[in-house]
Amino acid sequence: MKKTILTGCQATSDQIHIGNYFGAVKPLIELQNQDIYNVWLFVADLHSITKVLSIKDNHPYDQWTTNLIKLYIASGVDLEKTVVFKQSDVPAHFQLQWVLACFTHIGFMQRMHAYKDAENKKELNLMSIGSMNYPILMASDILLYDVDIVPVGKDNQQHMEYCADVAQKINHRYGDVFKVPAWQVEKEIGEVPGIDGRKMSKSYNNFLGMLDTPEILRKKVNKIMTTDLLPEDPKDPDTCNVYQIIKLFLSEEEKIDLRGKYQAGGMSYKYVKDYLYEKLIVFLGPIQEKYAQIDDSYVHELLAKNAVIANEVANQKIKQVYQAIGFR
Ligand code: ADP
Ligand code: TRP
Repeated sequence: MKKTILTGCQATSDQIHIGNYFGAVKPLIELQNQDIYNVWLFVADLHSITKVLSIKDNHPYDQWTTNLIKLYIASGVDLEKTVVFKQSDVPAHFQLQWVLACFTHIGFMQRMHAYKDAENKKELNLMSIGSMNYPILMASDILLYDVDIVPVGKDNQQHMEYCADVAQKINHRYGDVFKVPAWQVEKEIGEVPGIDGRKMSKSYNNFLGMLDTPEILRKKVNKIMTTDLLPEDPKDPDTCNVYQIIKLFLSEEEKIDLRGKYQAGGMSYKYVKDYLYEKLIVFLGPIQEKYAQIDDSYVHELLAKNAVIANEVANQKIKQVYQAIGFR
């Protein structure tokens, strides 16, 4: 029998960046293409609003969701193999969240990273209940679908531990209600740096976007932070932000060749930035072309169709949970 994989991605911008692609999208597509899994992929649009209290602008969340799904499809998500849906289309996600919340001690949530960060920064007064409950909603997303494996970023490790923990706690009390999921963290890629050398992130605005035009990419690539070594100086590829990005696009042979150029000296940062720019254009061109061919209305129809499929599975699980805890 095929195993089940599920993962979610927040829609927090009008596009995603190459860090998201290599850290999350590509690994998912590779799993999908092994043909040994049923794959669920959803847009965590309810998670996207957990920080709404601290921002002034009202965001077009639905358009961001549509763009994200178009990007997933253009990058290789196969709709025959993967069910793509939107979290807010499936009310069982927050129905189960309530049940899980009632099985979660306040003290436990106060030990989660997001809470601790806010506490350390003395910003607890700015934190919403939604933000604090983020891991509970995420556990609901997973437990509704009898998931075997959840591919996630390193930053979600603690959320996954909570998810397995709360599932076990409920199973212990009521019998096998939930499948306890395993998770898989993409280790090979690590953290792709942004143009300022910090982790590439939508929130730092330091990213190379999947939908950036050649002109924008050119400007951003030129801005990638490097040391002030001269062209003739030998350089260390492993501490160079440009190398950490370009290596994602290189074959093993190309990597060896470029590392040699770094170490030998005589290679300017301009050379390697031009090389990165070329690689980006070759990689992003076809994805952007495919993206442009997908109509928003196509995505809306897909979501309507898949909402029915997801609701059927999720409603069955919520019924089972309600019965287990003593509701009819
Ligand atoms: P962002 O920081 O840009 O808002 P998200 O938190 O929405 O990114 O992350 C979406 C997915 O992309 C997660 O699986 C995360 O681990 C992965 N990801 C985000 N940034 C990077 C990065 N710089 N390098 C590798 N993977 C990343
Ligand atoms: N927390 C994930 C992120 O970092 C998004 C997410 C929400 C998710 N629910 C999930 C991931 C369930 C995997 C499974 O963006």
